[in-house]
Amino acid sequence: MPPKVVTNQDLEKLMETSDDWIRQRSGIVTRHHVEPGIGTSDLAAEAARRAIEDAKVDPATIDFIVAATLSPDYYFPGIGVLVQAKLGLGHIGALDIRDQCSGFIYALAVSDQFIRTGTYRRILLVAAEVQSSNLDFSDQGRDMAVLFGDGAGAVILEPNDSGNGRGILSTHLYADGNFASHLWMEKPSSRDNPTFRPEFFDQGRFFPRMDGRNVFVNACQRMPEAVKASLEQNGLTVEDIDVLIPHQANDRISLMVAKGLKIPEHKVIRNIDRIGNTTAASIPIALDEAVREGRIKSGHLVAMTAFGSGYTWASALVRW
Ligand SMILES: CC(C)(COP(=O)(O)OP(=O)(O)OC[C@H]1O[C@@H](n2cnc3c(N)ncnc32)[C@H](O)[C@@H]1OP(=O)(O)O)[C@@H](O)C(=O)NCCC(=O)NCCS
Repeated sequence: MPPKVVTNQDLEKLMETSDDWIRQRSGIVTRHHVEPGIGTSDLAAEAARRAIEDAKVDPATIDFIVAATLSPDYYFPGIGVLVQAKLGLGHIGALDIRDQCSGFIYALAVSDQFIRTGTYRRILLVAAEVQSSNLDFSDQGRDMAVLFGDGAGAVILEPNDSGNGRGILSTHLYADGNFASHLWMEKPSSRDNPTFRPEFFDQGRFFPRMDGRNVFVNACQRMPEAVKASLEQNGLTVEDIDVLIPHQANDRISLMVAKGLKIPEHKVIRNIDRIGNTTAASIPIALDEAVREGRIKSGHLVAMTAFGSGYTWASALVRW
């Protein structure tokens, strides 16, 4: 997380909102914002460095990078190549995944396939977002501006040849592009020629926008469905789950997902009160905290699920 903490009271000074409203509707109390000049690849590189250190691997043995973000430093290239350069990882390939809040699980699925086929043996998967630099902090954008924060998380993936059953059991990926405009950043668009026009800027169309209610309803339905599909495929039941990590979209959504699955709240990881919604980075940040706090232990069955712009949604089952 970048060091700067932004409270609900800080936001009250920028727009017509209140600490009460934000807490009640989203469960969020604080979120982190970068200082100007810090980009998504900077947070990603820092998370990647820490993951490499924790995993105690020689960076020279990493043979591929998968990066997930909706807020790259540049329109192009993506952040994967920037992380590679910042960490001096040589000429290994770097793939950017564009599946927004579901980005981490999509990236996990892609990495898992590369490893299962033997294409790569050690993958750096990093998910990072800087959203604070392009949120509408006026009253018009307050529904989104209070929810989103900046942050990054990373994992190192490699094959488990030991036969002890630990690792990624399965991933399930879904999308419905008919809902693209319900949660999107409409501009800049390749449909416009020229792409960048002052009137779009004046109309606030370079800011992300959403239909919050529609997102809410779909998120509450799709995440439990995705988890159930993964359990079914593995012959497991909800009772087998030790820890559920839902994408931290809104605490009310996380609680609805828990209710939909009939999973007790003490098994659900919730850190949105301090972190806000960090889209692709939210699951790896929550995973890291849960592991450090001892809530995830060796042998635990960890279910992850996400929903977001696209719409995209996904689940992963991991035997830790
Ligand atoms: C955005 C969200 C918190 C709004 O909560 P809600 O209970 O649906 O609230 P409503 O949409 O009914 O809005 C209620 C009112 O609060 C206002 N409002 C919106 N944002 C506000 C804010 N930050 N502060 C104060 N009032 C706000 C609305 O303008 C609306 O006013 P109106 O009734 O005069 O039109 C909720 O819809 C949500 O969390 N959606 C999912 C968002 C999400 O997770 N997005 C990322 C996807 S991964």
